[in-house]
Amino acid sequence: MNIIKAKDYDEMSRRAANIIAAQVLSKPECVLGLATGSTPIGTYKNLVEWYNRGDLDFSKVTSVNLDEYKGLTKDNDQSYYYFMNDNLFQHVNINKERTFLPDGTESDSEKACKAYNDIIHSVGGIDLQLLGLGHNGHIGFNEPCDCFELETHCVDLTESTIKANQRFFATYDDVPKQAYTMGIKTIMNAKKVLVVVSGADKAQIVKDAFFGPVTPLVPASVLQLHPDVTVVADEAALSLV
Ligand code: GLP
Repeated sequence: MNIIKAKDYDEMSRRAANIIAAQVLSKPECVLGLATGSTPIGTYKNLVEWYNRGDLDFSKVTSVNLDEYKGLTKDNDQSYYYFMNDNLFQHVNINKERTFLPDGTESDSEKACKAYNDIIHSVGGIDLQLLGLGHNGHIGFNEPCDCFELETHCVDLTESTIKANQRFFATYDDVPKQAYTMGIKTIMNAKKVLVVVSGADKAQIVKDAFFGPVTPLVPASVLQLHPDVTVVADEAALSLV
């Protein structure tokens, strides 16, 4: 595991974007696994700047996102579909038909998960998977549990995740209680993994996930077993290690 210490959020974002840009430059037809949450927003801003300078071409890129809330429509400004358009897709020349997320509007979980697994298999594997880190160690929406889930599945979000995500919704009741997420096996099958982490509130989970035992109770800890992981974290997030 390669850990890059950045001074602050801006430097973390710039360095993470450089790694994604290097992936796109070296393999223009690559498959990017993308993430939502507040942490990667700065990374996407930097990628948009790369694109606006004329230094990056997304026209041949395919993307598969980690997760989506179950029950939110695409035009809901808290859906991850909306987030990706808002923060990246509408600002660059990616082919929208080659950008994929689980279908949060599909109420039949089995159908939604199977459809997304089929998409992931059909794109031929992920070259670079971007990840944020939940306060309880979740990646995508793989919450702490007794075993590592393999492929796309429907998750009951934990109380801590619902509370953490409440800041984006008007009330607690508005926060979806379930989501569809890529499984741990799919994430682990990505050729490269890039984790972005920022802030002192993530310092304990950084320590537990990357320096503690590998356990499904801390889902991100499994990344210690991946052969090509880069963690880009700011000083605050690394303050306990
Ligand atoms: C959500 C997302 C995760 C993300 C996490 C952390 O639960 N499903 O993919 O990593 O939040 O979010 P933030 O970066 O806002 O702390």
